[in-house]
Amino acid sequence: MGKIKHAILALSVIFWVASANAASEVQFPENWQKWDSVSTTLTKIGTLPGCDANVDTLPPIYQETVATYCSLRQGGPGKVAVLVNPAYESSYAARNGKLADGVAMILHLKDMKVLFVTGYKGGKAQYGAYTENGKDISAASGSLSVEMCRTCHTGYTSFCINGQCGKVSD
Ligand code: HEC
Repeated sequence: MGKIKHAILALSVIFWVASANAASEVQFPENWQKWDSVSTTLTKIGTLPGCDANVDTLPPIYQETVATYCSLRQGGPGKVAVLVNPAYESSYAARNGKLADGVAMILHLKDMKVLFVTGYKGGKAQYGAYTENGKDISAASGSLSVEMCRTCHTGYTSFCINGQCGKVSD
């Protein structure tokens, strides 16, 4: 009896640790430094500001993005870049939701040395969050959870197309 109880306790602890830990759905793109950066609405703005910035003039999805991530770091996440896997450059530019399976694009929070990564599996968008060195920092809940990414990227269908929110601009 005691043994079984112990085993159940041990199992639930293991399960709890596993589920509370990082759970990116996409692999870390080892060669991300070789990917090209593209110019988008967000990269033209240049930074994700702090929580006291006035973002009233930005489209609602950008306001929501700032509200979600402004407190990640004091003063805001800071400089951003959008990096696209060379194999996806034409599909990113086409912005029609047809993206081949694999790791496709990155929102690089440069000052935080963090990569928000989007990939595709079975044609559907998958998400993850990593440090520049490949440590999985996605969380079970909150702003660094894949559910949060999905709520905005997949949910904002009037703005994002199959998980792609940005649009190449010159
Ligand atoms: C509240 C909305 C919102 C949430 C939450 C959000 N994003 Fe985004 N994401 C955006 C917007 C807006 C852009 C920028 C579009 C642009 O470049 O103009 C963006 C850009 C990106 C890009 C660049 C490629 C592209 O055009 O889509 C990636 C990759 C990305 N986000 C991944 C993630 C991941 C991973 C998460 C979760 C950890 C996440 N995002 C959470 C709104 C959001």
